[in-house]
Amino acid sequence: MVYGFWKQLKKPIFALAPMADVTDAAFRFIIAKYGKFIRPDGTTGGGPDVIWTEFVSSDGLCSEGREVLLHNLRFDKSERPIVAQFFGATPEHFYKCALLARELGFDGIDINMGCPEKNVVKQGAGAALIKNPALAKRIIAETKRGAGPLPVSVKTRIGFDAKEELLWIPALLEAEPACIIVHGRTKKEMSIPPADWEAIGRAAELAKNFSSSSGRTLIMGNGDVIDLKDAAEKAARYGLDGVMIGRGIFGNPWFFRNADVF
Ligand SMILES: Cc1cc2nc3c(=O)[nH]c(=O)nc-3n(C[C@H](O)[C@H](O)[C@H](O)COP(=O)(O)O)c2cc1C
Repeated sequence: MVYGFWKQLKKPIFALAPMADVTDAAFRFIIAKYGKFIRPDGTTGGGPDVIWTEFVSSDGLCSEGREVLLHNLRFDKSERPIVAQFFGATPEHFYKCALLARELGFDGIDINMGCPEKNVVKQGAGAALIKNPALAKRIIAETKRGAGPLPVSVKTRIGFDAKEELLWIPALLEAEPACIIVHGRTKKEMSIPPADWEAIGRAAELAKNFSSSSGRTLIMGNGDVIDLKDAAEKAARYGLDGVMIGRGIFGNPWFFRNADVF
């Protein structure tokens, strides 16, 4: 298991979620800056433990249109550790994108297996991979092959039409990603009902029982978290390594300031 930066993080881990058309380089720069505070001795505290880019098409990055997409992979060193997220359904393209992420200096690579949008799902990408575990595993394997020393994670949901975390999460665990981020809704549910944190807790339990001699996949929960106290409580209650926060940060660039308290 390649853990890279993940092993250096204090738990519970707090992550800034990828949000297309929201968490661009400018937004992330603001979160990295105002999410931290400066101590009297000049050192900084607080801040997200890890930041994601918006998702970027692996097919697009392997096409002639590549140049147009590259600006989505720009980042500032203040955002580190930073993870590049890709979506697609072609294992070879994930291999090439993993090489690209290394070349650009990313700290980790994430595979989107949760996007419910029609135009993504119809490509067999995003949440559609929940219905195709064999392809999902090949994608993880190819990404790892290109990633070398960089850790590879997967961000997903608890099912496609129905909750199926008891089958889906073990399929992912077999491919040994460093971390799985579980959004507690199915694809069908989009963002409508409350996230099912009991299901996220079951995913964490599965990962604990799955640990091998090479280590254990970390599990982060995601969905409807409103502040860091809520995040820390959920991490403790559901046995998670960390929590990812998306919409909770809207209008509040100081969201992660108290991260050291928990
Ligand atoms: C505007 C918007 C864009 C999103 N884009 C992405 C994306 O690019 N990749 C991804 O994995 N999830 C994406 N998501 C899902 C979020 O990362 C997160 O899983 C979801 O919002 C639930 O978490 P929250 O309740 O903390 O917001 C997006 C969500 C929103 C609201």
